[in-house]
Amino acid sequence: MPKVTIDGHSIEVAEGTTILNAARQIGGDCVPPAMCYYSKLDVSGGKCRTCLVEVTKGSEKDPRPMPKLVASCSTPIMDGMEVGNKTSAKVLDARKGVVEFLLINHPLDCPVCDQAGECDLQNLAYEHGASGTRYEEDRRTFDKIDIGANIQLHMTRCILCYRCVNTADQLTEKRVHGVLNRGDASEIGTYIESSIDNEFSGNVIDVCPVGALTDRTARFKSRVWFLNPMNAHRNCDKCSGETVAWMFGDEIYRITGRKDQYGEVKEFICNTCRFDTKDLAKWTIEGPRHIERDSVIGQGHYELTPSDSTKELKK
Ligand code: SF4
Ligand code: FES
Repeated sequence: MPKVTIDGHSIEVAEGTTILNAARQIGGDCVPPAMCYYSKLDVSGGKCRTCLVEVTKGSEKDPRPMPKLVASCSTPIMDGMEVGNKTSAKVLDARKGVVEFLLINHPLDCPVCDQAGECDLQNLAYEHGASGTRYEEDRRTFDKIDIGANIQLHMTRCILCYRCVNTADQLTEKRVHGVLNRGDASEIGTYIESSIDNEFSGNVIDVCPVGALTDRTARFKSRVWFLNPMNAHRNCDKCSGETVAWMFGDEIYRITGRKDQYGEVKEFICNTCRFDTKDLAKWTIEGPRHIERDSVIGQGHYELTPSDSTKELKK
């Protein structure tokens, strides 16, 4: 099996593995951030450039370094390859530039955004961003669009990662939204606000790395760090029924898929579980969910609350 070394850590991985996935197998600090790649999607990646890494040695056969930084989510490893992520000054500098680019049009409305506290861009900017911007032009702005009864698109926040488009392609038979136009004029278009009414359409909310697609049934109900994320399940004939119930006391404020340490859902869930089943009696609450990523949610110490009785979870 080909061997790759990332930030000094070596691992043997299957032929064709990308640098990003090899890094995820090593784990820890050598894993590059990813805003558009999504492991559960058949097609993703190559759009946002946050996962750039430096290949300092191409392979055993051809040890020349790659001339430019490469997108780790779409570059397969070669035997003997050596890669710099956090140890590369070039990568850290480029990442700062990428964050600046992503923020050119992204509004700084974290204080009123439902995604705040679990936003990939917020986390990325915190870790890699510069404190100022050199951009002097006006940001692009769009009106908010309701996509059906349950989803709202706030295009002003979109970073055009294409995750939602690829999710809809994968999970629905008749995708009714996509990226229209080119360059600065690109936008997620829904053609006369057609509703996305497929039973799995709500998953576009979970895959959106920013607050561009939000759950209308939970918008503005609570800051995410005031809620207790609980593993919950129910018998569902459409999906596994395994979800996270975000609770305040005995009340379920929202339902999402269960996410892994990279913020990616483990399984896509159906709209009935997500939007239409907020009644606590319909769920079996398993206990507090461990949020593996560094997160403001963990600051609430919700995991210390008793896990077996939702009665005792009152604030
Ligand atoms: S709406 Fe969200 S998921 Fe869709 S392209 Fe924009 S940022 Fe990505
Ligand atoms: S995660 Fe690789 S380009 Fe976006």
